[in-house]
Amino acid sequence: LMRPEFNGDFTLIKAWKADKAGNIVFRKTARNFNQPMCKAAKTTIVEVEEVVEVGTFAAEDIHIPSIHVNRVVHGLGYEKRIDKRTVRKGQEENPKPKKDSDIVRERIIRRAALEFEDGMYANLGIGTPMLASNFIKPDITLHLQSENGILGLGPYPTQDEVDADLINAGKETVTVLPGAAYFSSDESFAMIQGGHINLTMLGAMQVSKHGDLANWMIPGKMVKGMGGAMDLVASAGTKVVVTMEHSAKGGKHRILDKCRLPFTGKQCVDRIITEKAVFDIDQKKGLTLIEIWEDLTPDDIKACTGTDFEVSPNLRPMQQI
Ligand SMILES: *[C@@H]1O[C@H](CO)[C@@H](O)[C@H](O)[C@H]1NC(C)=O
Repeated sequence: LMRPEFNGDFTLIKAWKADKAGNIVFRKTARNFNQPMCKAAKTTIVEVEEVVEVGTFAAEDIHIPSIHVNRVVHGLGYEKRIDKRTVRKGQEENPKPKKDSDIVRERIIRRAALEFEDGMYANLGIGTPMLASNFIKPDITLHLQSENGILGLGPYPTQDEVDADLINAGKETVTVLPGAAYFSSDESFAMIQGGHINLTMLGAMQVSKHGDLANWMIPGKMVKGMGGAMDLVASAGTKVVVTMEHSAKGGKHRILDKCRLPFTGKQCVDRIITEKAVFDIDQKKGLTLIEIWEDLTPDDIKACTGTDFEVSPNLRPMQQI
């Protein structure tokens, strides 16, 4: 895809602080694409929460040098809204009772967490993959990346730790671990495209037997944005694991000969984890069933899968953490 460049006349940016010379600093994950956008227009207008004297920032801490900033607006009376106030388990205001769908989900999560290896850099999609991070074995170190600009993601916050400027790519409130780093989204995509992320785990609507993935849009429905998935799955050297319920609502197949929905990536998925089975994907040969939920047989899996697959000679019960 060749994308012609374009230059805006104006760019409107929200930052944390400016000094009187127009040097700019962002707070936590609020940097995202603001940093490159400051450089993309003829006139850059930056709204900040605080204006400070020149010299307040150490020169090496400045995110945007004043050359890119034409006007600074000092905003007053900020109300920072939170899209998704997500807190640690046991910290919810009204914890919900477990439903059947929660039990299915937990089974997927407890299998997915076994994919984590010591020292890995991983990017986890919103929902089930993120929840797998609650089950990281205590003896391993996993570096979690979020494509909006965090390396070193921690658990969800307690009620007291919630911070509007500290969110993941799904707009959920998060925390960071000691040694974490914040950066802009373009730097985050450089990490992803550079093949530095060892594992990406994400949800799917459909996966084909050759590892094609459809997870970003249903034609006719609103698309809020594709996020980082296309870049993550296209990156050579990144293992791609899909976690999803085996069938869609009404029992419709999700694992198919060919995806019918628009692709997120072609021949990119290495493994599928559902509540019923785990498949490995050879992008030329197709699917191999490697694990199966305890009270199911390969024939049961055939009945609920929209394509053929091999059964591994080492087929074993689905592992759980
Ligand atoms: C992660 O990927 C890097 C290459 O980018 C590699 O050197 C390293 O061994 C990988 N780590 C794990 C735990 O897979």
